[in-house]
Amino acid sequence: MSLRTLQKLCKSAIVNYVPNTRVFRRRRISITQVRKMDYPRNDFEDGGLLKPGHYSLQVGAPGPEFLKQIGGYLKVASESLRQTDRFEETLQYGCVAGGYPVREQVAQFLSRQYEQSVNSDNIFITGGASQGLINLIQHYFTHEYKIFIENPTYPVFALRITEEKLMTPVPISMQSDGMDIAELEKQLADLPDVETTARRPFRAAMYLIPTHHNPTGCCYSPEKCRHLVELARKHKLLIICDDVYNVLNYKQDGSGDPTKFEPSPQRMFAYDKPTDPGYQGNVVSNGSFAKIIAPGLRMGWYEAPKHVIQSLRTCYISNSGSGQCFYASHVVSEALKAGFIDQHVQKLRLAHK
Ligand SMILES: Cc1ncc(COP(=O)(O)O)c(C=O)c1O
Repeated sequence: MSLRTLQKLCKSAIVNYVPNTRVFRRRRISITQVRKMDYPRNDFEDGGLLKPGHYSLQVGAPGPEFLKQIGGYLKVASESLRQTDRFEETLQYGCVAGGYPVREQVAQFLSRQYEQSVNSDNIFITGGASQGLINLIQHYFTHEYKIFIENPTYPVFALRITEEKLMTPVPISMQSDGMDIAELEKQLADLPDVETTARRPFRAAMYLIPTHHNPTGCCYSPEKCRHLVELARKHKLLIICDDVYNVLNYKQDGSGDPTKFEPSPQRMFAYDKPTDPGYQGNVVSNGSFAKIIAPGLRMGWYEAPKHVIQSLRTCYISNSGSGQCFYASHVVSEALKAGFIDQHVQKLRLAHK
């Protein structure tokens, strides 16, 4: 193909991609409704901030007062990074899974927030949950593989997976405590007998938002979490959990002290215990700092089994780009070490409870 033809094609693709002005609000949208909708234009297409005191439920974006506060913290953190002897290194191509001090600080922060131990060997730094999700899908699957998704689910994902045919989506109804297991089991009975290999160890995927589900707000019951992990082992499924809201738990702990909150329900990753006799490592927790620090940071993490972390080291963006947001993640690491992000999360909880 000549350069001219390629340029023409790119130009028309960009023109065709101009979205309309419809805006998603957070509401229950079924998979079929999503299929009929045009590409949504979000609240930030033209730049700018939300009105003071506002919080966008469409994308879980903080108001300007929180961005201002976080800006102050990041300024101090970048200055403290500049004082370290590894400053120049953080501007170089980096470690594929993320710098060691970054993974360590992220693991310690999550351990404090979840009140459960998180091991830095299971942490892999990503460019946010959206990038993390697509990266996993592209790494392990093709459009021929099935992906079981909640109905309703995060509409932007439902739309993209359907339109771009990255995988074959199979919607499963939601109940008040998570996905309808009986409906899922019926669908699993029809799963094609895909051969697994070390490079492609899963026969299908499942995309879940088990904690503070978007859009229903529900949390999965412990029984459902256990059951889903068992099914994932039996059928060799990869469960990808969008754990983007877990840290933001607004339930008070019952002590009567209005500043004390319960930790979020245990994430599904913790139900897939390496000490279990049938352990294979079937769950990935796909986290994001977009809701906790700032969406513009584009930083997140996987908490993943070691074989997944090892395998992801070979994927194109990790291998060619040598890790994600390497410099920015070191600034975040300094902010985490100073305790700024724990303070910020507490302020978000107090403001939005
Ligand atoms: C369930 C879910 N996943 C992913 C995202 C996007 O996360 P990120 O900004 O880290 O890409 C959102 C934002 O609304 C979300 O609600």
